[in-house]
Amino acid sequence: MSLSQERAPIYEALQAFGKKRVVPFDVPGHKRGRGNPELAMLLGENCVQMDVNSMKPLDNLCHPVSVIREAEELAAEAFGAAHAFLMVGGTTSAVQAMVLSSVKQGEKIILPRNVHRSVMGALVLCGAIPVYVDPACDERLGIPLGMRVKDVEQAIQMHPEAKAVLVNNPTYYGICSDLRAIVKLAHDNGMLCLADEAHGTHFYFAEGLPVSAMAAGADMAAVSMHKSGGSLTQSSIMLIGSAVSEGYVRQFINLTQTTSASYLLLSSLDISRRNLALRGKEAFAEVIKMADYAREEINAIGGYYAFSQELINGDSIYDVDVTKLSVNTLEIGLAGIEVYDLLRDEYDIQIEFGDLGNILAYLSIGDRLRDIERLVSALAEIKRRFGQQKASMMRQEYIEPEVVTSPQKAFYAEKELLPIEQTNGYVCAEFVMCYPPGIPVLTPGERITTKILEYIDYAKRKGCSLTGPEDANIEKLNVLKGEA
Ligand SMILES: Cc1ncc(COP(=O)(O)O)c(C=O)c1O
Repeated sequence: MSLSQERAPIYEALQAFGKKRVVPFDVPGHKRGRGNPELAMLLGENCVQMDVNSMKPLDNLCHPVSVIREAEELAAEAFGAAHAFLMVGGTTSAVQAMVLSSVKQGEKIILPRNVHRSVMGALVLCGAIPVYVDPACDERLGIPLGMRVKDVEQAIQMHPEAKAVLVNNPTYYGICSDLRAIVKLAHDNGMLCLADEAHGTHFYFAEGLPVSAMAAGADMAAVSMHKSGGSLTQSSIMLIGSAVSEGYVRQFINLTQTTSASYLLLSSLDISRRNLALRGKEAFAEVIKMADYAREEINAIGGYYAFSQELINGDSIYDVDVTKLSVNTLEIGLAGIEVYDLLRDEYDIQIEFGDLGNILAYLSIGDRLRDIERLVSALAEIKRRFGQQKASMMRQEYIEPEVVTSPQKAFYAEKELLPIEQTNGYVCAEFVMCYPPGIPVLTPGERITTKILEYIDYAKRKGCSLTGPEDANIEKLNVLKGEA
């Protein structure tokens, strides 16, 4: 049966179910909000009425046969995939399912170092071994870029037994590798190509943006509908191409997925897919216009550098997502994280993240021109009130990781907790990352070096929120026992 993109089967089934006023002798125990009036007041009647559990008329996410299946088929059609899985554990769960269904213990996966923590977490779970490709680093901006095709080719030649190549499409800053060429390389060498598209949902629905993973022929993609797609936080989609078996992948999804999927999340995915399929093109044309305007205005302030497509070099920056408003702040003598904090504390403006040299304002379908104006004027004022000489700003550079043992082995190994300043030369047994963006500075199994320790110290002093280790203050680190 062919379905129209105007339909939203989960949402429609929920509405029909709501009208029936069925008496609930099942979970959730708040019983449509009656058992928890404060919650009902906070979220509203509609929301608590729709917070129901799986049942025949509403299907079941673990084994969808009716309305969820139809919603997945509609999503697959909208995204140009062979199948789409609705996910309720964030894009983290999509990334994990993608990696777990591609590589097993001891098998190799080729990937850039600037992956999200969810990828490294998946390697801890499955025991695969990372083969890192150096994502080139932009000298001026200090940001990691995309993988160069020749570097991927070299990694494939050196590790022909690897099972998969994973690509960020795009990076947090909106930088894309030549995905079509990497897919071809992977396939020519019998490997799968996986894409982390946490920041690329809109590529499927707008014009003038980088190629999407499915259009490029990738085998799987993890797509954050809740980021640029407009669905509720934590909802996500995983896409697969025709060479991948739906049933096989679902088994991996069900290893860690809840058996009580939230219908708030599922219906939000359904409605957002419909919205993107019907109106995404026009909506994102507006977002692109706003982002272009913001870049022009921010660059006119002086000092800031709002970067975009002029960086394209046909290789490590094969393409750029122009909806991302990434701004380098070093010339005004402030770290990105300092501007990020000032925007929130002094101007009530919350942006996506700030790192040592850059900020990222996330623009999407809910933005308004007047809010862009507010951001631009706040940035101008920050420069005037807080700007300094740019001397003594640390530049970020790529620190080549030395992988001593697999993330899984290191994570489960016998460890000792040492004061961080004494860990130089040891093998790290846990994660350290700045969040956001959540790209690990250290992962289990990597050698700790002076450069890495200096970076962590500087990031701490500048106010970056560092997460990962057992010691939340990051004054101590777990290292492999006796491995210095
Ligand atoms: C590149 C990348 N991949 C995966 C994720 C995980 O997404 P989620 O927070 O929905 O689990 C993120 C989150 O920021 C991300 O930036």
